Amino acid sequence: MNFKLLLRTTLNLLLCFAAATLAFSQQPATAKGQPPKQNAPSTIEQLTARYEKAGREAYDRRQDIFKAAAVKPGAVVADIGAGTGLFTMMFAEAVGPKGKVIAVEIEKRLTEHITRRAKEAGLANVETALCTERSVELAAGCADVVFLCDVYHHFNHAKDSMASIHRALRRGGELVLVEFKRIPGKTKEWIVKHVRAGQEVFTAEIEAAGFKKVEEKDFMDENYFVRFRKVERK
Ligand SMILES: C[S@@+](CC[C@H](N)C(=O)[O-])C[C@H]1O[C@@H](n2cnc3c(N)ncnc32)[C@H](O)[C@@H]1O
Repeated sequence: MNFKLLLRTTLNLLLCFAAATLAFSQQPATAKGQPPKQNAPSTIEQLTARYEKAGREAYDRRQDIFKAAAVKPGAVVADIGAGTGLFTMMFAEAVGPKGKVIAVEIEKRLTEHITRRAKEAGLANVETALCTERSVELAAGCADVVFLCDVYHHFNHAKDSMASIHRALRRGGELVLVEFKRIPGKTKEWIVKHVRAGQEVFTAEIEAAGFKKVEEKDFMDENYFVRFRKVERK
């Protein structure tokens, strides 16, 4: 083999390797602790700046959302897709030492962050749990309340995730949903693109998963607040 041929072969091999590495890194992750999408910001600081910033309605109205959720002392709250722990910390104060908050996340770095954050805040009633894209991976009947804030539209396998949430709630348990309003022509364009369906579709999906809508509070511009109750399957 002459030198030019050897050089070309080596370059081709390197290019194939680079392409294969790139393709593999773009595969959606499904294992516990892995983010489902690739374009997520890579640091906790960036995520905190995204989820806990003025201008994000769920952050600006967090006290109103918290009050509307009305979790009681002693309750077990599962904060699914807890993000950086914004609501986890608030619920942990509210449920007190006789209750607890289980912060469930698909990203391991976020459960680790929430564990550190709870420890620094002296909140001993916060647990964290890793989930998968298809299941919240909680024990049957372990929660009184499941809280989903700007998470439902992230469910790539909503039917499976909702079946696992139904299992995780105790008899008569409640699901509190905060989700983006999606009204084409009215809602911001990025939300219309980012969120696959509006309130009616998501409500129908959740009811089909074994829940009954029991309350709705309209106090936000960009998000809706709905409470569902678990219905027992026959
Ligand atoms: C927009 S953030 C909301 C965070 C938090 N609930 C809040 O309101 O500040 C969505 C979160 O859902 C998580 N997530 C995405 N898919 C999920 C899934 N299938 N199960 C649980 N969490 C998921 C993401 O990692 C992200 O932290």
